[in-house]
Amino acid sequence: MSTPMAVFGTGYLGATHAACMAELGHHVLGVDVDESKLAKLEAGEVPFYEPGLEEVLKRNIEAGRLRFTSSYEEAAEFADVHFIGVGTPQKKGEFAADLTYVDAVIDTLAPLLKRPAVIFGKSTVPVGTAARLGQRARALAPAGVEVEVAWNPEFLREGFAVQDTLHPDRLVLGLDRERPGRAEEVAREIYAQLLDERIPFLVTDLATAELVKTSANAFLATKISFINAMAEVCEAVDADVTVLADAIGHDARIGRRFLNAGLGFGGGCLPKDIRAFMARAGELGADHALTFLREVDAVNMRRRTRMVEMAREACGGNLLGTRVAVLGAAFKPESDDVRDSPALNVAGQIQLQGAAVTVYDPKAMENSRRNFPTLSYAADVNEAVEGADVILVLTEWKQFCDLKPARLGKLVRQRSIVDGRNCLDPTVWRDAGWNYRGMGR
Ligand SMILES: NC(=O)c1ccc[n+]([C@@H]2O[C@H](COP(=O)([O-])OP(=O)(O)OC[C@H]3O[C@@H](n4cnc5c(N)ncnc54)[C@H](O)[C@@H]3O)[C@@H](O)[C@H]2O)c1
Repeated sequence: MSTPMAVFGTGYLGATHAACMAELGHHVLGVDVDESKLAKLEAGEVPFYEPGLEEVLKRNIEAGRLRFTSSYEEAAEFADVHFIGVGTPQKKGEFAADLTYVDAVIDTLAPLLKRPAVIFGKSTVPVGTAARLGQRARALAPAGVEVEVAWNPEFLREGFAVQDTLHPDRLVLGLDRERPGRAEEVAREIYAQLLDERIPFLVTDLATAELVKTSANAFLATKISFINAMAEVCEAVDADVTVLADAIGHDARIGRRFLNAGLGFGGGCLPKDIRAFMARAGELGADHALTFLREVDAVNMRRRTRMVEMAREACGGNLLGTRVAVLGAAFKPESDDVRDSPALNVAGQIQLQGAAVTVYDPKAMENSRRNFPTLSYAADVNEAVEGADVILVLTEWKQFCDLKPARLGKLVRQRSIVDGRNCLDPTVWRDAGWNYRGMGR
């Protein structure tokens, strides 16, 4: 069955959700306040790098199932099912999430809702937000109590967003238990194809659904910081954290995934989500429960400092006047997202210590230039490493993992490489005459 729906916010989450819902056969209107983003999307162009999304976007625009607008009036007229996919960034100068954008969606949309409607929140929000938005929506909407707010958190990974939206590990739906309504029935209709695939569908209360998302991210961040803490210990005794990870990862209770030591996590989700989680727990008087996340954050940020130290050591103890090639700018491969990117953070710190830093990334050049205009950027790997005293691999793009040490050796000033993602084979590089250093190995 095809359901008309609106998706508010057409960024990494919203554009993917809108296109994928159209792919499931629904009629979708994507709504954003950014006219330039809308113009690109309308032209069938994805405003960011996400493998496979452009095909889905184009196919559904051509089929007449997917359109975009900046008009909330048009959205309220068109659909009775609405998804919130706007950003919830960290507030400036504090840990809490900035809820201005989710609030704005409700404040603009609700007064236009004259018919019963279901609003599904997908953005990652502090626990308690959904209940508050529900109250606000009911108070502002002409349809009053016939407007429901449910929470349907999103777990997609950038780089695998289409696959994760159409074939997620699980669907979670939080309902307002005090006001039984149609949200579950509507969700079952919308996601019928996914449910036919027997994707687990967990229906819960609003608070649990919000907490599922934040606790999943807290767990993933903890797993990465755990192995990075082990890397620190390995560094102290000359042990190899990559072998350690392989060995403990064979234990099914631990698992090998998300156990790669290196420069640590970044991006538009994990760092701000664990901080917002700590802030919210503090407000709820449960801050003790999450004090360990402070350490998770601290271990993660120490990796960046460690990388700067390793670059300095590789340059003989002083970065002043050296040339440093930085390979990678996106916070992870298969994405052009540079929000809280460890790679750019390190590049910036090294530049402040007097090095000439040249950055290359296969997809994130435009975003990097916009955010770090004072760094130098190269058109390709060769240009980036030309005359370098040290190469830093800071994002594990496949093309960097496949680099040939002999060929690069002819371009650099010194054969020195620091592998911030432990994605290179040390033996191959050392055999080719390079000074290779990994993180925790
Ligand atoms: N990016 C991910 O991988 C991912 C995964 C899961 C959850 N999330 C969560 O999803 C939410 C969105 O993240 P994102 O990465 O897509 O952010 P984003 O910054 O890429 O997109 C947000 C979009 O919302 C638009 N917007 C802002 N105010 C608006 C308004 N009032 N009305 C309509 N549109 C408005 C912005 O112009 C922007 O296009 C966040 O809460 C994030 O934590 C993101």
